[in-house]
Amino acid sequence: MAGLSLRRTRLHALTRELTREVRVHREQLVQPLFVAEGILEREPVPGLDDVFRDTSDSLPAQIEADLEQGINKFLLFGVPARKSETSFDHSFTAAQIANVKRHFGNDIWLATDVCLCSHTTHGHCGILDHDAEQVLNDESVVELANAAVAFAQNGADCVAPSDMMDGRVAAIRAALQQHRLEQTVLMSYAAKFHSNFYGPFRTAAESAPAADATLSDRASYQIDPGAPRDARLAAERDAAEGADILMVKPGLPYLDVLADLSARIPKPWAVYQTSGEQAGIDLAARQDLMRRDAAQLETWLAFVRAGASIIISYAARRSGSVLRA
Ligand code: PBG
Ligand code: ZN
Repeated sequence: MAGLSLRRTRLHALTRELTREVRVHREQLVQPLFVAEGILEREPVPGLDDVFRDTSDSLPAQIEADLEQGINKFLLFGVPARKSETSFDHSFTAAQIANVKRHFGNDIWLATDVCLCSHTTHGHCGILDHDAEQVLNDESVVELANAAVAFAQNGADCVAPSDMMDGRVAAIRAALQQHRLEQTVLMSYAAKFHSNFYGPFRTAAESAPAADATLSDRASYQIDPGAPRDARLAAERDAAEGADILMVKPGLPYLDVLADLSARIPKPWAVYQTSGEQAGIDLAARQDLMRRDAAQLETWLAFVRAGASIIISYAARRSGSVLRA
């Protein structure tokens, strides 16, 4: 007779609660925010529940609402109205940071995404060469470092480069140092893959490269899904160049990379549950094919199991119900 052995601790809710090894805490969650210049009213982001492109006016109100839900860590994406090809004005996003930090001070932790794709006419994460065939590395890095300094000067607690140019972490770290901004945390999108799970984000950030352009995707700068060693090299390099926090992105399709790298490199590890991942959950739940909160919690537990201590999730502001699911 087999009797009860492994099932004994699964029988009752409180025994399960007691014997569970992995938990998710609200303190680990980071909520992405979008703020767009030149829109009159905030707009929902198509495909994502409870996510908006805020106006300068609605952004503090959104943060206030999130604070009421116990969420106090944010990753801000500024979307300027004016697009350009070579030189970029970071004042819109910088002004949003200053305004938000004036309101909330150290009650919030404000990370700001550093990239050029919301600024460029073509949607790429850097400056293109004359024939629009390639992203120019070093020219782009100069602009990224300028952006990081502008954001840090205006009070960003953390700058988070997501462009995937070579040498940007070192350049940003050096520029921050030069401007006496040595306290600003640098979170690198180190293991960022060339993924199909970024769709809703690109609408929100106005950053989708045109499908009929010569350079129509980001394969020449983001990591190939079949190249985990590239991710390892990128993470090791970014750590050596002065990143304080490292990230794997997207989340669920790259759990193996997160587990491997977080075990190898003793740094805080973040995971970005991307817009396409979130849209999958929200859409399935809307069609009654999945329980939204329970499914969300299951994914967050997977991230913690795999070694993430920081979870960037569009559903952070729903954590009240998610963590009870
Ligand atoms: C662009 C950027 C992307 C995300 C954050 N910054 C996507 C991309 O490479 O186009 C992804 C966020 C998401 O999908 O939620 N630098
Ligand atoms: Zn970008």
